[in-house]
Amino acid sequence: MTGSDMLYKPAKLSIAHLTVVFNEEVPAIGDLSLEVAEGEFVAIVGPSGCGKSTLLKVVAGLQAAQSGTVAVARAEGGREPKIGFMFQRDTLLPWANVTSNISVGCELSGLPKDQHAARIASLIALVRLQGYENHYPAALSGGMRQRVSLARLLAFEPDIYLMDEPFGALDYQTKIIMGRELLRIWEARRRAIVFVTHDIEEAVALADRVIVMSARPGCIVASHDVVFERPRDPRSLRGDPRFGALVQTIWSELAIAD
Ligand SMILES: Nc1ncnc2c1ncn2[C@@H]1O[C@H](COP(=O)(O)OP(=O)(O)O)[C@@H](O)[C@H]1O
Ligand SMILES: [Mg+2]
Repeated sequence: MTGSDMLYKPAKLSIAHLTVVFNEEVPAIGDLSLEVAEGEFVAIVGPSGCGKSTLLKVVAGLQAAQSGTVAVARAEGGREPKIGFMFQRDTLLPWANVTSNISVGCELSGLPKDQHAARIASLIALVRLQGYENHYPAALSGGMRQRVSLARLLAFEPDIYLMDEPFGALDYQTKIIMGRELLRIWEARRRAIVFVTHDIEEAVALADRVIVMSARPGCIVASHDVVFERPRDPRSLRGDPRFGALVQTIWSELAIAD
């Protein structure tokens, strides 16, 4: 446990009556409320255009809302909560190698310079990129680039992880492996995650709770607690009849929402 981990006080996200309007008649998000508990892994699924990315951007402060509130609570005496964002397309610096890209997260976290090398080394081991420290993004596969993005996000040490289809551009097998890696990291750290995906199976395999959104206006139509025991192996879960049943239920809710 590092010094900053010991200072950590769990954060909780409260979104209340959020409405976001662009130039269209119907709001992109209409009166949406959602609570994310301390250390909870929440997945959000919904059709394209239902406002998933907009929701995350508002929480991250990248997009203004017409009305409603977003609050990140912290326990008394805790430090200012940090919100980290990971996108579907990696946003790595193409001219910087793996180590330098991850060091961006260390810089943003305010970690003293003399501790960067140790944190970067431990994160490279965590995301299993040993031997690739000096590689540039162009020389890495899509899955490896997302591992670097994940390591950079972890280097920032967020209290809340906002992940917008982080594995959406990866092939099926790599996506499953990345999901397993993310769970492994999450089990160890237990920070709140809001994980947007259009893949229902991925949502059910990873999350404590799956939120189903519909479009026009973007709103929540269902919320499912996912009760599979932790730690989980997302691969073996897929054979469980309860897994298939929940996936089917969410499918039918999305079909109705369409
Ligand atoms: N910057 C923007 N300007 C205008 N309309 C936008 C903007 N961002 C998103 N929208 C619209 O808001 C709706 C929700 O978009 P988005 O949040 O990207 O959906 P999702 O991520 O669920 O696919 C869509 O109708 C989209 O066209
Ligand atoms: Mg989106």
